[in-house]
Amino acid sequence: MKFIPSLLFLLSINMLHAQNSSLNLIPQPVEVKQNTGSFTLTKSVTVGFNTPEGLDIAQMLVQKINVATGFGIKAVQGKKATIQLNINAVPDQQLGKEGYTLASTSKGVTITANQTAGLFYGMQTFLQLLPKEIESKNIAKVKWVIPAVKITDYPRFGWRGLMFDVSRHFFTKEDVKSYIDEIARMKFNTFHWHLTDDEGWRIEIKSLPKLTEVGAWRVQRYGRFGDRDFPKPGEKATDGGFYTQDDIREVIKYAAERNITIVPEIDVPGHSMAAIASYPELSCKKDTSTRVSPGSPFSEWFGNGTFKMNIENALNPSDENVYMFLDKVFTEVAALFPGQYIHVGGDECYKGYWAADEGCQALMKKLGIRHVEDLQGYFMNRVEAILKAKGKKLIGWDEILDGGISPEATVMSWRGIKGGIEAARLGHDVVMTPTTFAYLDYTQGERTVDPPIYAGLRLQKCYSFEPVPDGVEAKYILGGQGNLWTEQVPTLRYAQYMTFPRAWALSEVYWSPKESKNWNNFTKRVENQFERSDIEEINYSKAIYDAIVKANLKDGKLKITIESELPDLEIYYTIDDAMPDKFTTKYSQPVELPHGPVTLRVITYRDGKPIGHLITLKREELEKRAGN
Ligand code: ACM
Repeated sequence: MKFIPSLLFLLSINMLHAQNSSLNLIPQPVEVKQNTGSFTLTKSVTVGFNTPEGLDIAQMLVQKINVATGFGIKAVQGKKATIQLNINAVPDQQLGKEGYTLASTSKGVTITANQTAGLFYGMQTFLQLLPKEIESKNIAKVKWVIPAVKITDYPRFGWRGLMFDVSRHFFTKEDVKSYIDEIARMKFNTFHWHLTDDEGWRIEIKSLPKLTEVGAWRVQRYGRFGDRDFPKPGEKATDGGFYTQDDIREVIKYAAERNITIVPEIDVPGHSMAAIASYPELSCKKDTSTRVSPGSPFSEWFGNGTFKMNIENALNPSDENVYMFLDKVFTEVAALFPGQYIHVGGDECYKGYWAADEGCQALMKKLGIRHVEDLQGYFMNRVEAILKAKGKKLIGWDEILDGGISPEATVMSWRGIKGGIEAARLGHDVVMTPTTFAYLDYTQGERTVDPPIYAGLRLQKCYSFEPVPDGVEAKYILGGQGNLWTEQVPTLRYAQYMTFPRAWALSEVYWSPKESKNWNNFTKRVENQFERSDIEEINYSKAIYDAIVKANLKDGKLKITIESELPDLEIYYTIDDAMPDKFTTKYSQPVELPHGPVTLRVITYRDGKPIGHLITLKREELEKRAGN
């Protein structure tokens, strides 16, 4: 008798699980109950909203439906539509600001929420329940059926962000809107806009026109970022672009309609070469030959995280004119962006030019500061005072902890999670975005297939991220984000490739209950999302289909281990210079590579068909890999 209830229990869990996975929702909702029956969208469907606040969402939904179905349905205020969007008269505590319920029966669909954010997310879930052809830009002939469900859903974290670097490569406002649209669908609510850096200043500041007349433009260069030739004397800077303040307002409005708050970043005191190219007097050396960097090798890294800048790129903390400059910048930034936060960077500031500067030395003496590193604390506190005067809160990379910052400052933990742990212990709010789980510029697949950068980050690793470290009070962790740096990302399509599917994993990390995470279930939903993205013509990486080749060198023996992120792939390989296919050796256990100039070739299959990239690795590459 004992076994029967537990067996039944297990069966019911399995059914729930199977049903949930067949729904293919990303991020996974808090609670899904699937009922019998379904709802079919037809020409006679109406979309209704019970209060005027629901109008914009209803119109967005109607437009999306009409493009793919050609039905020509309309949004109407009222309470009796087939698809009804309702703002609760009495707030449902469980749903909070962003939660929603979605109930579908054969008769219709009702989405309820306390605020429009919830209606927007309920709409996204509804769209994901529809056949994938809902993403079509042309009329698709399919039966528009969704299963009967009751969903209750709300986010785990209030900060669910993505950072987009538009300095290393400029992306047009249309690109930015498209990016925002994609992340909003996955229920991200924060867009961190990295607007300034050494390679370009992208936001118009009317009181400082040279920032965009000069700082937004660099000489045209091709080839690998970081290895490019320096600007030549007199060479014209023609590559770049910037956003006018009207552009910025347009993007802010577009984002707000999708429940996205924009956090603008003005990265100071380091990463400021474009500002210094515009106004050289802001630096210590005041070198008037400073140019916006086109991706030239301007720094030397010493392997332990320390580095030297061969070209000055930091503002001079001892110069009062610098704070007047920053006051002008932040006055205009604060007036443009309605959100409470302004990101002030603070990362990777090289202090060598400060150490050699008489003004900085005098300031250190006056302040009783012994280490030049601590001048950053002085600088950041000055910046915080400027922001406070404009009614804004400071957020910065975890280096803002160096030299001390007020407890009201919010810390973005990027150098692993240790900065976040330390910050939370000091009582700061924290946004978790560690390189190890959340850096979307890192190579996501095999480095001899994907364009390599200095580190890798696989989808499964992103998915495994837990933003609240042990021993840290959860209340300090506002949430997390993914960061897309664009040194190696020249186009929107490639930005999509680098962002997806890893941002889908992060969306689940930051939205869904920790307990509901399930890798195998997630990958099924990812594959469904691939099909939707194909129809929508949004790019993504298929690195999950590629083999992962690891090497180990012990006692002169080179051992190869081959893995895959998906459990149902078959791996075939050769070491005899033949091309691998399903008739060559199937990988089942680690292989010792025989001596000699051997090349390993690997391919993955599923259901008898090749699915991953061909990976070709010579002995030297494998030996190098074994050394890492
Ligand atoms: C950073 O990646 N420099 C914040």
